[in-house]
Amino acid sequence: MNSRKLIDTARALVAGDKGLLAMDESNPTCNKRFAKLGIPQTEETRRAYREMIVTTPDLGESISGAILYDETIRQKKKDGTSFVKAITNAGIIPGIKVDTGAKALAGHPGEKITEGLDGLRDRLAEYIQMGARFAKWRAVIAISDGIPSPGCIESNANALARYAALCQEAGLVPLVEPEVLMNGEHTLEQCSKVTEEVLRAVFDQLYAQGVMLEGVILKPNMVLPGLNCPKQESLDVVANSTVMCFLRAVPAAVPGIAFLSGGQSGELASARLNAMNIRFRSRIPWALAFSFARAIQQPALQIWQGQQVNVLAAQHALYHRATCDRAARRGEYSAAMEVAIGPEQHHITQASR
Ligand code: G3H
Repeated sequence: MNSRKLIDTARALVAGDKGLLAMDESNPTCNKRFAKLGIPQTEETRRAYREMIVTTPDLGESISGAILYDETIRQKKKDGTSFVKAITNAGIIPGIKVDTGAKALAGHPGEKITEGLDGLRDRLAEYIQMGARFAKWRAVIAISDGIPSPGCIESNANALARYAALCQEAGLVPLVEPEVLMNGEHTLEQCSKVTEEVLRAVFDQLYAQGVMLEGVILKPNMVLPGLNCPKQESLDVVANSTVMCFLRAVPAAVPGIAFLSGGQSGELASARLNAMNIRFRSRIPWALAFSFARAIQQPALQIWQGQQVNVLAAQHALYHRATCDRAARRGEYSAAMEVAIGPEQHHITQASR
């Protein structure tokens, strides 16, 4: 294991005011999102969509790393340039999702275990050959009556730690993603309790598996009330609860926390990250960054609609969301940015593409 290289990559992923773009939707997830908008669900449309993303001018101003999916890391732009080369040329570090999805956990109705450890060592070697420098594994934890169970938390934490150890052995920085889902009626307090319990279990397991924390990025949920909870909370309450929870459970050796968006709107995800950085940026041990998929991509996907003619407008929307999230890292995001940054501020021209 080359510790120096791992530490450098982990730090680069959360350096300055940049964050990560998750564009690693599996084919079924990507197809589901396309289907909702009437976009054909083919390998070529998925490729064209990802080409729209990776060719967005100046995306590297805000994005430090992009997480790809197995199909995507093998794909190319129309001109034959691989996506890995395209994003590397844009100053963005290529990463790869390596879990094979969350499946029903035997004996635990309503709970899931993420699979993909079998053969992972060989798959990681192949991804490194293709240019990947970091990886992602997502565990999902639901909150409902009587769940999460200790069995679900422990088995997912163990899988995350075994994945992280294999990544570091191979020379890839592991993004460790234990996602406590937003679905449900649970309160913010319940989310905080479960998130802390999950994080403690994950760090116990990372320690047990000998994972070097300086070479890990944590990709968690924010502490939020469930989507159907009647009591939603202010930005300040979310920021406070999230940071307090992480201060109790995340060791200072971890260089960065890059939040997932989990189904929040782009605006809300930016505003909540911003509130955390305004209040705590100068007093916390880790960088507070982003690793959003829907909160960056959704407006662009809705504009793109599978049509080449919409590419420039979709790229503008993508660039805009990434710019808002970059501002949120500095604690400089404001709702005014949502109207202030028009296409005239970002000159996307055919020539620059
Ligand atoms: O695994 C999930 C993604 O990496 C993050 O997606 O920001 O849409 O929750 P999201």
